[in-house]
Amino acid sequence: MEDLYAVIKLKLESNLRLLEDKPEETIESTIKALWQKALGIAMSAEKATNLPLVELSDQQITRLHQLVEKRLNGEPLAHITGRQSFMGIEMLTDKRALIPRKETEILGKAALHLCEKIAKEKSVISILDICCGSGNLGLAIASHHENTMIHSSDLSHEAIELANENISFLGLNHRVKAAQSDLFLKFDSADYWGKIDLIVCNPPYISTSKVSQMTSEIAANEPAMAFDGGMVGLKIIQKLIQESPKFLTRGGWLIFEVGVGQGPFVIQLCEKSNYYNQIKSYTDNTENIRVIAASQSKL
Ligand SMILES: C[S@@+](CC[C@H](N)C(=O)[O-])C[C@H]1O[C@@H](n2cnc3c(N)ncnc32)[C@H](O)[C@@H]1O
Repeated sequence: MEDLYAVIKLKLESNLRLLEDKPEETIESTIKALWQKALGIAMSAEKATNLPLVELSDQQITRLHQLVEKRLNGEPLAHITGRQSFMGIEMLTDKRALIPRKETEILGKAALHLCEKIAKEKSVISILDICCGSGNLGLAIASHHENTMIHSSDLSHEAIELANENISFLGLNHRVKAAQSDLFLKFDSADYWGKIDLIVCNPPYISTSKVSQMTSEIAANEPAMAFDGGMVGLKIIQKLIQESPKFLTRGGWLIFEVGVGQGPFVIQLCEKSNYYNQIKSYTDNTENIRVIAASQSKL
């Protein structure tokens, strides 16, 4: 077993390019996740990394070598395993939506913190998860906070299909619903106006020109629509800032992720809109603003 591990480790160390935006994928966690898959168990790298290795049969060893080849040919690890961990929860993942990123846990955790605040005044918290992709944010919030009702939406039909599979996979059908919509279009009715306590969104925020320069592993396997934020990357963010207040309760929060370097300008956009009084930002461990939260004060 140790020899097999050492052979694969050497092969991956010499040939695998680890991606910065998937820091949970190390050589060790990659081997362990593929090892589980060879055993017939679908498991994320983050979960597999904590498990000991077990003996493989000859057939499983052949399977493991095939899986390693797939990974070296550029197939994302999360697509090979079919799982990605997000905020400690195993979720289904495939080509239909963005693979949830570790950095988005800053947004998920900040959103949960706001839920705790809101829960002091409300027994059920109404949440919109806009641009939901695989459904990860809404589902993580619902899993960690019982008193939440979540409507998730995405422009991509395929992403909504996957989000619905994740809702069933996690047994959250009673509290999370997913539907296709161009931003707020589906919610533009009296049922939602002024009734939402929290809008959470991880929007596309990369400029169109940079999307075309992304690493081939990402470009070939994850939907461009998940990244493309228009000419300067702020097309969706500007709409979010303008359109959210109509749906938020007075004092309700809009919280969303921004790209590295966008924070200060986006905070100004929130201030200039005159819709929000409190504006908070959350940074990553290198002090870049990655999340902005704004509380609706006008409507
Ligand atoms: C950065 S991904 C986020 C996915 C997921 N929430 C996550 O955190 O991994 C952005 C998502 O926005 C969706 N999207 C792009 N334009 C949209 C629009 N106009 N309305 C709704 N969703 C949109 C994409 O399909 C994609 O799923």
